[in-house]
This record gives sequence, C-alpha cells and structure tokens, in this order.
Amino acid sequence: MISELNNFLEQKPGRKTAMRTIDRAKLEKLYEREEKKFVAEHPRSAALYGRAQRSLLGGVPMNWMKKWAGAYPVFVETAKGGRFTCVDGHEYVDLCLGDTGAMTGHSPDVVVEAVAKRMREGITLMLPTEDALFVGEDLQKRFGLPYWQFTLTATDANRFSIRIAREITQRPKILVYHYCYHGTVDESFAGVYEGVVGPRRGNIGPPVNPAETTRVVEFNDLNALDDALKRHDVACILAEPAMTNVGIILPDEGYWKTARELAHRYGALLIADETHTICAGPGGCSAEWKLEPDMVVFGKAIGSGIPGAAYGCTEEVAQRIGARIHLEDCDVGGIGGTLAGNAVSLAAMRATLEHVLTAQNFEKMISLAVRFNDGVCAVIDQNRLPWNVQRLGCRAEYMFHEKPPRNGAESAAAADFELERLLHLYALNRGVLLTPFHNMALMCPETTAEDIDRHTEILRSAASELC
Ligand SMILES: Cc1ncc(COP(=O)(O)O)c(C=O)c1O
Repeated sequence: MISELNNFLEQKPGRKTAMRTIDRAKLEKLYEREEKKFVAEHPRSAALYGRAQRSLLGGVPMNWMKKWAGAYPVFVETAKGGRFTCVDGHEYVDLCLGDTGAMTGHSPDVVVEAVAKRMREGITLMLPTEDALFVGEDLQKRFGLPYWQFTLTATDANRFSIRIAREITQRPKILVYHYCYHGTVDESFAGVYEGVVGPRRGNIGPPVNPAETTRVVEFNDLNALDDALKRHDVACILAEPAMTNVGIILPDEGYWKTARELAHRYGALLIADETHTICAGPGGCSAEWKLEPDMVVFGKAIGSGIPGAAYGCTEEVAQRIGARIHLEDCDVGGIGGTLAGNAVSLAAMRATLEHVLTAQNFEKMISLAVRFNDGVCAVIDQNRLPWNVQRLGCRAEYMFHEKPPRNGAESAAAADFELERLLHLYALNRGVLLTPFHNMALMCPETTAEDIDRHTEILRSAASELC
C-alpha cells in the first residue's frame, strides 16, 4: 500500500504543480510522537483499558473498538450535543457522532425527556403504543412509502427487508455493491474479485460462501448490473443511494433511474438503505433525488441513538407480503425480535423525528458540512496533496486520491491505513474526534462553525508537518 501510494503521488500529467509525496519515515516518526502524547494525556483511559483486559474479550465492549487510532480507546465520561468529555477530563469536538447514531447531537433534551417519561410508564410490552403511529405517519411523509415496521437495529431492518424480498419474489439471491456495508448482514459480506464473488476479507465464520446468496457488482456500472440481474434470480438490490462506508461515492447522473428500471424489468426490488444517507436531508437521498425505491431502511439516528430502526415498503410490496405471510406463522417466520418496536424505541423515534431531524436543522448542518469541505479543500490545495473531499448533505469525507472514486474498488485502492491513523490521532490529540476507519465528519445541530474551523486548522498543521 505504501509503495502504491508513493507511485500515485508522483507527478500527474495535466497538473501545473507536482503533487506532493508523503515521506513515510516522517509519517512513522510523527505517529510515534503522537502516540506518546496520547499515552501521556490519557492515564485514566489506560488504567480502564488495562482493567478491561480481565473481563472483556480483547479489553473492549465490541471488537472494532480496538481499531481506533492510539494505544487504546478513549473512555467516555459524558457527551452532550456536539461534544464529549473523556475520563481524563479532555473535551472533544465530536465529528464522529457515534458513526451517525448521534447525528442528532448527543442526548437531545427533548428526546431524553420523552424517553425518561416513557421509561417510567412502561418500557416493553409486546403491544403497540400510539407513538408508533406518529412515527409511521412521519416516515410516510419523509420517504413517500405507506407502510412501516420497526426493529432494534438497521442490520435487522436490512435482514428483514431481504427476507421479504426473497419471500415475495421467490428468488434466492440478493445483489449488493462491492465494498458496501449494511451492518452485520451475512449476505452483504461479499466482494467481487476478478469477476468472482467471494467472502470479503475479514469475514468471520461465514455461514456459507456468500457466492451462494449474493451477486456483487461495482457501483456506477450499469452493464454489470444488467448482467447480474438478467438471470432472473435476484430478489432485491440492497444499496445505499450513495456509498458512505468506503469513502463517499456519489452515483453518476441518472444511475438510479436506470438501475431502478433494470430492477423492475428483471423482477427485483430496490431497497434503499438510508441509514447513513439520511444525511442528505429529512427524507434521505430517496426524497432528495426522487428515487422511488420499493423499500427503505433507516436506523441509527432515527431514535437519537436509542436502539431502533425502521423499514418501509410500497403498497404493492405490502400487498404481496399480505398474500404470502399467514397469521398463524407470523411469529416464527424469521422476522421479529421480542424487543423490536418497544415503547421506548418508539418514543425516542417520535421525539427525534418531530423535533431534531427537522428541515431547519438539516439546513444548518448541511451548511456546516459545506464549510468543512471548503476548509479541507483549501488545505489540500495549499499543500498540493493528491487528495479529494466529498460531501453528501451534512456528511463529508476526505480521501487519499486525487479524484473522487466512482466505485468501491477505486476507493479501497486509495486507502492508506497508516496515514489515516496518523491524521485521526493527530486530530484526537488536539480535541477533535473523526469517524474511525475512514476520514469522515458528520455535523449535528449543535456543531458550530468554530468546531469546523478547528478541524481545518488541525488538518492544516498535520499537512504542513507531513509535507
Ligand atoms: C448503511 C448502513 N446500513 C446499516 C448499518 C447497520 O447499522 P447497525 O450497526 O446499527 O445495525 C450500517 C452501520 O454502519 C450502515 O452504515
């Protein structure tokens, strides 16, 4: 990867000025220095991490928490709005926001109050509360789909949407995009390698080779999509309208119009996973770009981080479901979850949709993301870095490639693990948390212009040290 990057960083034809080459030895030295600073400034987190080794597998509550830049994860004391404080007393601007779970800002008062009230009045019952209707009606308006159901996670909402698609089409396969991420959905941990579908690197204990369940194509390749669908065995396309988990990859103009036509021509459903792309606006990309998917999935931020997610469908899909799922079997059909649709989840979703994920807040958040982009662009230009920055609504991300990628393979090829870790640790040591595992920043209603400028200055300083 390092030599690939260095090759890439050589002068590109057509550019007036040579692109900058990053000195890897310098990068390594800087990382060492930053790691020392991190360790010196986070003794309480270190102690907790040491103690955690004796009770938590790998010393963390969830395995990916080990992957943060730095010697160990920062343990959190409190979080509110766009900031959090760690157990060592440092305050951070949070541009990660729980990887979208807290895109609403941490613990919005209105949601906390609604949830606290609901918790005093019954948490889970196996029976509906009126909040569910409010949420269904709100989602109808946002996404234009008439019928909704609830789960605890976006992963489950995706899994159940896939099951429904398989059931009503009576087809075995699903189609996803190379380097997609839709949560821990078995079928989606697949990639296409020299034309052959197989498990994605790191796929832990796949139940079967995903080639049996999944077709994988590159984003923005309509010929490949046509090819993959024309065998008439694909139940659904599960897609983020813009890819957000391998950098931000925007669809080509007209891509979704044709993709949707192809899906329908070959009898497959289009499921839009808007869990991250909700950043585009109150109705996600489905509303912004008039996508008209057959199903929509929306999790994470929908309840300000209180576990909950939703999936919705068209009238036609609803009728086809009704024709196939029988009352006597509906509790053991593989779609469910005892706590799904519980009263607290729904109270959180209602308060979030009514008061936080509003058009007015989106407007503010999106203008901050524009400011973030402008700042990063200026740093890239000043330092002649072969990077680019992309934005989708209130989400922005910089990538180590001169041009924005058009598909997952292109984006993944430009990844630089060491450089990314340095930039994350550098920012963390100066009070800014970026989304781990890529260079993503998300805005919440409480993010301020000063927060964004602070990130820009930190990136400027990192770039000038690196170059
Ligand atoms: C697009 C998308 N869909 C679904 C999920 C799964 O969400 P959860 O982990 O809350 O189930 C994620 C998680 O990052 C995601 O990025």
